[in-house]
Amino acid sequence: MPNNTKPTYNFTNKTALITGAGGGMGEQICLSLESFGAKVYGVDLKNKPSVYTGKNITYFQEDITDYKAIDSIFDEISNESGKLDYLGNVAGVLLFEKDKSLVDIDMDIYDKVIDINLKASTYMARKSIPLMLKSDSGSMVHFSSVQAYRGDPLPQDAYSQSKAAILNLSKSVAMQFANRNIRSNTIVPGMTMTPLQKRWENDSESKEKMANFIPLKRLGTPNDMADGVLFLFSDASSFITGTELIIDGGILLH
Ligand SMILES: NC(=O)c1ccc[n+]([C@@H]2O[C@H](COP(=O)([O-])OP(=O)(O)OC[C@H]3O[C@@H](n4cnc5c(N)ncnc54)[C@H](O)[C@@H]3O)[C@@H](O)[C@H]2O)c1
Repeated sequence: MPNNTKPTYNFTNKTALITGAGGGMGEQICLSLESFGAKVYGVDLKNKPSVYTGKNITYFQEDITDYKAIDSIFDEISNESGKLDYLGNVAGVLLFEKDKSLVDIDMDIYDKVIDINLKASTYMARKSIPLMLKSDSGSMVHFSSVQAYRGDPLPQDAYSQSKAAILNLSKSVAMQFANRNIRSNTIVPGMTMTPLQKRWENDSESKEKMANFIPLKRLGTPNDMADGVLFLFSDASSFITGTELIIDGGILLH
């Protein structure tokens, strides 16, 4: 993997809040940010990952759809750090067997996916803005999916719709707060090996087939996504807002 020419960053005195911090991509994003000096806050339903031990990462085991719990997290960040520089809206669910075509889906399942993937991301952005306005600067990165751009013969309509709406959440924040130097961009991942794709863990045949279909001939990694997030948080992207960074090995070229 061509990882020998990576940029380095200085995130000293920067504060970041990352949702999905117990998942594949979120965990790597927290570790990468921390390794470059950031104070990181992570939130996830899962237990605190053991790799966080001894690191400058404060972990909240909470449900991001529980707005009271989210309010408390923001209170703690405000009291402790007084500001927020970066928000990573990474948490998301894909309910494989239950997320179906709009004509078949149980509407409670539909609501659940929208609540987690879209509404909670919106609430996180809404709560972040006042903290970013304190320093007239900030950068948000929201996680969509290549599914936002596609129809699918085997649809997961709630997931795809939630991920398409994330594109507009990001653009709207970007437009509304550009004059206060708050940037907002979206990462659009392709197929990436994380717990979300655990159905493929022991299915090397399907993984190989998918890798062969991807123009760059491999599946994505959490590091591929963390690299994009760090770039979009950093000043290296200071003139970039309201856009998408597709990290998919070229799969959307098909
Ligand atoms: N892995 C892929 O192939 C892929 C492709 C496209 C987009 N994505 C998107 O990338 C993002 C990260 O996915 P990942 O691959 O790291 O998946 P993951 O399942 O490893 O991580 C997602 C995390 O979100 C957390 N989460 C879910 N619901 C939550 C809730 N209500 N409150 C708090 N935390 C909650 C989960 O516990 C999990 O740890 C997601 O938004 C996903 O939709 C992933």
